[in-house]
Amino acid sequence: MTTGIQPGQQPRLGVPEIDIGNTDLIEAKRLPPSLDTRSQRREITLPTGKFIVPQAHSIDDNGPTASMHLLDESATLSIGEQLAEALPDRLTIHLIGDLGAGKTTLCRGLLRGLGYLGKVKSPTYTLVEPYKDSRIVVYHFDFYRFTDAAEFLEAGLDEYFEGSGIRLVEWPERAQPFLPEADLEIRLQIVSGGGRTLTLFPLSPEGRICLQNLDSSTAAPP
Ligand SMILES: Nc1ncnc2c1ncn2[C@@H]1O[C@H](COP(=O)(O)OP(=O)(O)O)[C@@H](O)[C@H]1O
Ligand SMILES: [Mg+2]
Repeated sequence: MTTGIQPGQQPRLGVPEIDIGNTDLIEAKRLPPSLDTRSQRREITLPTGKFIVPQAHSIDDNGPTASMHLLDESATLSIGEQLAEALPDRLTIHLIGDLGAGKTTLCRGLLRGLGYLGKVKSPTYTLVEPYKDSRIVVYHFDFYRFTDAAEFLEAGLDEYFEGSGIRLVEWPERAQPFLPEADLEIRLQIVSGGGRTLTLFPLSPEGRICLQNLDSSTAAPP
């Protein structure tokens, strides 16, 4: 079976569609996530599964994107933790996906990876949850409840996007066009057969470095 990004889910900025590859390659092994971009084809190994994903290049030179299948919640938490290791001190990440796609779960894993051991609640009602006890300050936003994008400015949330820190934004499309650009866009899709598909799109030099760091931190040992 071959699975690609679904119609209407194409990445912005003209990044070509990615083919997930042969799902028969799933291996029920418990391994740390691994994402290998050293060769033409990249191999991504997750705690409960293994996929070969063809490398793709964006036409506007945003660099390679990466796609992987997350078999269960622990795989989503795990890739979040791996991402934490790859972060610079300042980055904005947009998380795109339907309700229940796993956006908050990924943020939970990322915060855990940054050393935050407390509860991570969805900021659906508070709009923003700050985390100052983690290794890097994190602001976690959720704009699901916006009925008008101008609420972003009215609530003074633009100030959170100045200065250092990691900004994780769920439902960024609901604050457009006022929301600052992302360095990294993460798309999560619910897979009907189970699990989630995650695709990472670097959109700035910092985003590209982050993806490269993720590559090296998750590369399988030779
Ligand atoms: N890879 C996965 N496979 C299956 N279920 C998952 C996966 N990742 C997360 N989930 C589950 O999906 C549900 C919704 O997750 P959540 O992070 O709250 O979604 P969102 O923030 O996108 O609305 C949770 O019950 C979570 O455990
Ligand atoms: Mg959420």
